[in-house]
Amino acid sequence: TKEEPSTASTSGNGEHSNGAVANINWDELGFGIDHMAPMMYRATYHPSSGWEGGLEPYGPLQLEPSAQVLNYGQSVFEGMKAQRSAKGNIVLFRPDENAARMMAGAERLSMPPPPADVFLDAVLSTVRANAHYVPPRGKGSLYLRPLLLGTGPILGLGPAPSYSLVVYAAAVGAYFKTGQLTPIDLVVEERFHRAAPGGMGGTKAAGNYSPVLVVQLAAKKSGYADVVYLDAKTDTYLEEVSSCNIFTVKGNVIKTPPLAGTILPGVTRKSVIQLARQLGYEVQEANVTVTEAMEADEIFTTGTAVVVSAVGSLTHRGQKKQFGEPGKPTKTALRIYEALTALQQEAGEDPFGWIVPV
Ligand code: COI
Repeated sequence: TKEEPSTASTSGNGEHSNGAVANINWDELGFGIDHMAPMMYRATYHPSSGWEGGLEPYGPLQLEPSAQVLNYGQSVFEGMKAQRSAKGNIVLFRPDENAARMMAGAERLSMPPPPADVFLDAVLSTVRANAHYVPPRGKGSLYLRPLLLGTGPILGLGPAPSYSLVVYAAAVGAYFKTGQLTPIDLVVEERFHRAAPGGMGGTKAAGNYSPVLVVQLAAKKSGYADVVYLDAKTDTYLEEVSSCNIFTVKGNVIKTPPLAGTILPGVTRKSVIQLARQLGYEVQEANVTVTEAMEADEIFTTGTAVVVSAVGSLTHRGQKKQFGEPGKPTKTALRIYEALTALQQEAGEDPFGWIVPV
C-alpha cells in the first residue's frame, strides 16, 4: 500500500508543516550519518506483483543471510540532494537523470529497473516526509541515498528472486572535511585501477566503491583527500577520483575524460559540461594524460556529494604540482561552483529546466 506523503511546506529554518522541528545545529553539518532523517521509503519488487511500497520510519532492513546482495552484491545506489532555494522552495536537481542511471545500472546487474515514476515518487515522498531535515539555504542539503538491492534469497549464483528499493536521507554539509571551498590534495594511484573496459565502472554499483578504500585510506594517511585513478589499459589517462569526476583547465579549454564505460556518468559532470559551455569555455570530453594534468592551469572535481571542488595539488610519482594559491579555490573552479550552486538553489535562471520543486 502506498502512503500519502505529507506536504513539503516548511519554514525556511527547518520547521515542518506538521510542527516537527529538527534538533540540528545547521552550522556544524558534515557529510555523515549524524543527522539521519526520520523517515525512509521502502518498496519491494516481486515478479508477480511488481513494485509495492511506501514510507516507514528509518530503521534496519530484515534480510536473510542468503539475500543475493549479501552474497553476490546485486546493488546499485544513487546520490541526490534536496535543497532550500532562493525562491523559498525545496528543490531537487535533475532527479530524472538519477532515475535513468539507476535503471541503466539495474540492467547491467540483472535487476528489475524501477520505472522512473516509481523512483521519483520514492524520492519525492522521502523529501516531503523529512522536509524539516532540509537545512536552511546555504547551510547544506538533505542528501538522498536511493538503493536498489537484490534482497531475495538465493544460493547458487543467479539474480535475486525479489528486490528492494530503499530511499533514506540525511542532513549533510560539505563532503571533504576541510570544507567546501578549501582545495583538496590528490595523488595519482599507481597500483590499483578503479575499473576495466567491459566491467561495471560506468554504473553506480556498490561494488565499485569498496575496492577503492584500500588506496583511499592509505592516501588519507599521507595527507591526501583522495586519489585519481588512471585507465586500466594503458596507465596513461585520468579516469576519476574515488568519489567524483575530474576536469582539467588550460586557458579557455576545459577537459574531462570521456564516458567509455569505465567512468561514472556523473549528473554533476554532465551539468558542468553544459554550464561551462554556456559560460564561454570550450569543453572537450577527451582523454587527458596524467602529464597533461600535471601541466594544467587548474584541476577540479565534480559530484553530487562533492559539488565542485578545486584541486589544490596533484602528486604523481612523488612530484607535486600546486594549483593556485594554497588554501584558495582556483578561478575557474570557483566560477563554476558559483554558477552551479546558484542554479541548483534557484538563485538565478534555470535555462535548462533542471530544477524540480518538491
Ligand atoms: C555522490 O556524490 O552522491 C556519491 O554517491 C559519491 C559517494 C562516494 C558519496
